[in-house]
Formats: sequence, structure tokens, C-alpha cells
Amino acid sequence: MKERWIGPLKVFPLGLGCMGFSHGYGDAVPIDQALSVLDEALERGVNCLDTAALYGNGANEELLGRWMGARRQQVVLSTKCGLNHPQSGAERRIDGRPHSIRASCEASLQRLNTDAIDLLYLHRLDREVPIEDSVGAMADLVQAGKVRAIGLSEVSASTLRRAHAVHPIAAVQSEYSLWTRNPEIAVLGACEELDIALVAFSPLGRAYLTAKLVDPSRLQPGDIRRSMPRFDMLNYAANLRLMDKLLPLAEEAVCSPAQLALAWLLHRSPRVVPIPGTTNPAHLAENLGALSVVLGPVLVARLERLFHPDAVSGPRYNAANSVEVDTEKFDS
Ligand SMILES: NC(=O)c1ccc[n+]([C@@H]2O[C@H](COP(=O)([O-])OP(=O)(O)OC[C@H]3O[C@@H](n4cnc5c(N)ncnc54)[C@H](OP(=O)(O)O)[C@@H]3O)[C@@H](O)[C@H]2O)c1
Repeated sequence: MKERWIGPLKVFPLGLGCMGFSHGYGDAVPIDQALSVLDEALERGVNCLDTAALYGNGANEELLGRWMGARRQQVVLSTKCGLNHPQSGAERRIDGRPHSIRASCEASLQRLNTDAIDLLYLHRLDREVPIEDSVGAMADLVQAGKVRAIGLSEVSASTLRRAHAVHPIAAVQSEYSLWTRNPEIAVLGACEELDIALVAFSPLGRAYLTAKLVDPSRLQPGDIRRSMPRFDMLNYAANLRLMDKLLPLAEEAVCSPAQLALAWLLHRSPRVVPIPGTTNPAHLAENLGALSVVLGPVLVARLERLFHPDAVSGPRYNAANSVEVDTEKFDS
């Protein structure tokens, strides 16, 4: 499959989400395991790596900084600012103020051990700060040579358009998968119109779409999925019933459910760049198999009907995290 573009950055069609090495899904993985998955990904051509200042409170960026060394030029390095754990250990905070963005970028550059970040995203819109001011600060970082391209995460089409009028936006990073179709309401269309990449995070539905997570009650205590409504006992049981219908479709396409989920995203639009996250070399290999899956229009239609937004049980975020995102929502 041909490479894709994120603004001026040429990327392999699938990226690697690095969050899980140190954040989100339970304990951080052993360093040797993380380094070998990163090696393997790059060896297989995956060059777009995704991290954030938030992940492990900087530990995820430090991991990439340690690993990259002489590989820096082979990597399209993306990180995020504007959502941080304050050092005090208090609650996490959205902060899109220009001086905070500048400080966050400097700290990321240090941790990543690099002179410039290829793609810097605003992790969340700060509703207290006009998007023009946040993006203006990011544009200054481009001018200063510290950042090559700018992205926004979990924004609505109207925020995207306002931001794009200040400085070209290279990418929107939003949750997008068979079971989270919100970008189809407006953002994907805006990206196609404005020539902006849609970087799809949690493209495997945080493991749900792999069909291998059957009992979320066994997730580690600190796993963020424990606070996500779709993973609670009742909703997950209903969502697993959809999985029963996905399995035969994967069989028809001669691939695994994870490969089918990723192939569907790749097929959806050439602007889409999925960034599946994995800490496991066998999962990495499986996910890359999505690149050779061929999907016909009939199968695509059946998949989209099966995962119609009304068919999925539970909202993707709990109430507290839901107010943090600026994205369009389905009415239900
Ligand atoms: N912008 C944002 O607000 C935001 C939010 C969330 C995530 N992200 C980014 O998006 C990236 C990807 O999203 P994500 O990690 O949340 O979700 P994901 O890619 O949908 O799923 C990751 C989960 O699936 C498992 N997995 C991956 N491949 C598998 C396979 N073939 N078979 C079985 N299990 C598999 C992983 O476990 P193993 O490690 O065991 O494979 C992990 O638990 C993150 O790493 C992060 O960089 C951004």
C-alpha cells in the first residue's frame, strides 16, 4: 500500500501508538520489551510514532528519546501539548495558553532528545483560550524551527476551520474506528476538503475490535478502560454480541478481526492514518497484515451496518472525559 501524507510528512500507512508502553492500559511495560517493539516497527517500515507529554507524565517521551538516537531521521515523530499532569500530582489539566504550550514544547524537546518535533498536536482544546491563540503559539514554534507541522486532537470541524485560518493544520487526531464513527459527522469531510490528515487513534477500539478482550473485569486496576462506559459489564456484554457477527466477516475477508478493523479505516479514505497501539511484537505483526487485506464494497457496507452508531452500547467516554472533547457527537 502506498505511503500517506500528514501535511509535508510522508508516512507509512499505519503508524504506531506508543501510549501503552507507559500509560493508560495498566503498568508500564519492561523497557526491553518497549525497545524491541520500537525496533521491530521501524524495521517493518512503520515510521510515524505517536506519543504525548501526558503519557506517563513524560516517561513515554523519554522512552522514545532514549530509543531514537541515530534513528531520528527515519522517524516521523509526533507528540502533544496542552494536557498535562502537573508535577504536584494534582488532577490532570487542559492548558492551551501560549506560554504553557511553549514551555511544554521545550520540555518535550528535552525528553525526546531532539532539536525539532515533526508534528506537534494540541491534545485538547482549552475552552478558556481562543483556538487562534493556542495555534498562534504553535505557529511561532514552527517559525522558530522547533516544530515542523501542527495538529489538533479531538476537535470539531468548526474549531478546525478557525485554526486552519491561522496556520495550516496538517492533521486532526481523533478516535476513529468501526465502533467510534464520530469523525464521519463532520471532521473527516473537513479534512478531505482542506487536505488535512485524519490520524485515527484507538483504531482497534482499545482492543475490543481484536476480539481478544473478552472479560474487561480482568483489566488491571489502573487501566483507563475501567472508567469507560463501553467496557462496563452490561455494555460490554452487548458489544460482544456484535463481535459474534464480526468474526464471520473477518473469515470471509481471510483476515483477523483486528486486521479487518484496520483495513476498513485504511479503505475509508486516503486521508486516514490509523495509529494502532501495541506493546506486543506478535500483535504488531498481526496489525501490519491489515495492509494486504482487500475489501469489496459489499463487505464494507455490511461492516458499516453492523457497527452503525446506534448498535454500539455505551458512550466512549465517561461524563468527566466527555466534556473535555470538542468533537461532534451523535444524538443518541
Ligand atoms: N489523542 C488522544 O487523545 C489519544 C487518546 C488515546 C490514544 N491515543 C493514541 O493512539 C494510540 C492508539 O490507541 P490505543 O492504544 O488507545 O488503542 P488501540 O490501538 O485501539 O488498542 C490498543 C489496545 O489493543 C491491544 N492490541 C493491539 N493490537 C492487538 C492485536 N493484534 N491483538 C490483540 N490486542 C491488540 C493493545 O494491547 P497490546 O499492547 O497487548 O497489544 C492495547 O491494549 C495510542 O497509543 C496513543 O498514541 C491518542
